[in-house]
Amino acid sequence: MKLLIISYSQTGQLNELIENCTRGIDNVDIDRIEYQPQNDFPFPWTSDEFFDAMPESVLETKLELKPINYKHEKYDLIILGYQPWFLSPSIPTSSLLQEESFLARVKNTPVITIIGSRNMWINSQKSVSKRILEAGGEVVGNIPFIDTHNNYVSAFTILHWMLAGQKTKKWGIFPKPGVSSEDIEGAEVYAPIINKSIQEKDFSELQTEILKVGKISVGSGILFVETAGRRIFGIWSKLITRFGTSPKKRRFLIRLYKYYLVVALFFIAPIVVSIFRLLVLPFVYPLINKRKSYICSTKLT
Ligand SMILES: Cc1cc2nc3c(=O)[nH]c(=O)nc-3n(C[C@H](O)[C@H](O)[C@H](O)COP(=O)(O)O)c2cc1C
Repeated sequence: MKLLIISYSQTGQLNELIENCTRGIDNVDIDRIEYQPQNDFPFPWTSDEFFDAMPESVLETKLELKPINYKHEKYDLIILGYQPWFLSPSIPTSSLLQEESFLARVKNTPVITIIGSRNMWINSQKSVSKRILEAGGEVVGNIPFIDTHNNYVSAFTILHWMLAGQKTKKWGIFPKPGVSSEDIEGAEVYAPIINKSIQEKDFSELQTEILKVGKISVGSGILFVETAGRRIFGIWSKLITRFGTSPKKRRFLIRLYKYYLVVALFFIAPIVVSIFRLLVLPFVYPLINKRKSYICSTKLT
């Protein structure tokens, strides 16, 4: 049994999650690869650099990666760890998913995705699943990890983490950003489930077993914000790449987008989500519930 575990992580959070999810997997030839872009992204980010990553994240623009040295031509299972950036797969992830050498290994191969996100991973998983499917592979399991704090609190604290470079409590009063230490350590719960599927070479019940742990859920508000946000990001990314033809013009548009995003996220979204919850959700509840269980399954194309 040959297993490829592949990921990119800036802070190491995703790698810790992967390590815990796969702890104790035995009798398997594991090829663990941490790939890198040719020119890596900064960490910590400056505010301008952070928001400047939006258009290429959303448009899934391929970036040059450092050559990847795989141990094998083919694997029996691939575990792909990734993180969403601006409701899309991070630029390194979408670049990997456009690399011929990786796609050749995905062909006819089951793939498990492990996501280390803030809390909005649905759109990115749709895109990742689609690319895997198009390459002839199949997502047989998906384990998304999120920051379980309130959406606005986690947006604020993640910015502190990304811009200061420290996974610490902002001003000593806000919660720690990102996936909690308990959830990172608790990721070990998935290891025997994955191991069982590997040993039995049967992934048909894997996602059902993953969901039985009871840690994966999707909030109605998040679902709503992601759907609206993806559309808005799409418009902004096209606008910025079309009219941001010089560094000066691009910087201006990125700053405009940044202020728009802060206002939209912290001032407009709470109002719109409350209206949605009060006036729309009661009528579409069964539909939304169906959508949520579909999202938690792996067939997310
Ligand atoms: C540029 C950027 C954009 C991000 N956008 C999102 C997002 O849309 N949804 C989300 O859940 N998390 C988002 N995050 C958080 C990441 O998914 C991830 O949880 C965090 O960066 C830590 O990942 P790491 O393992 O690469 O350090 C974003 C992070 C960065 C750096």
